[in-house]
Amino acid sequence: MAANFRLPVAESSEKREQIAFTFNGQQVMGYEGEPIAVALWACGIKTIRSCGATAQPRGVYCGIGHCYECRAQVDGVANVRTCMTPLSRGTSVSSSSDWHIEGA
Ligand code: FES
Repeated sequence: MAANFRLPVAESSEKREQIAFTFNGQQVMGYEGEPIAVALWACGIKTIRSCGATAQPRGVYCGIGHCYECRAQVDGVANVRTCMTPLSRGTSVSSSSDWHIEGA
């Protein structure tokens, strides 16, 4: 069972259902529609990929879609900004260490 780093929230009339998705083959839980990066962070996963040149860990930096530090492969699509991509049930997220350019 993954850690839960979410802040407790006040009771709401809108109950959200947790959904399962995978990160590097490990099943984790999040809420549908929240950014993938947020769901990963809430599970204690802060390293989304490693730098291809230095192998340093990379994760959320700007959180607003500008830096691309949070990019990963999502459902087979490379270089997806996880801070900008809503989570869906069954989404498969994989670390990607470098840019993947089709045909290069
Ligand atoms: S954290 Fe900067 S683009 Fe996602």
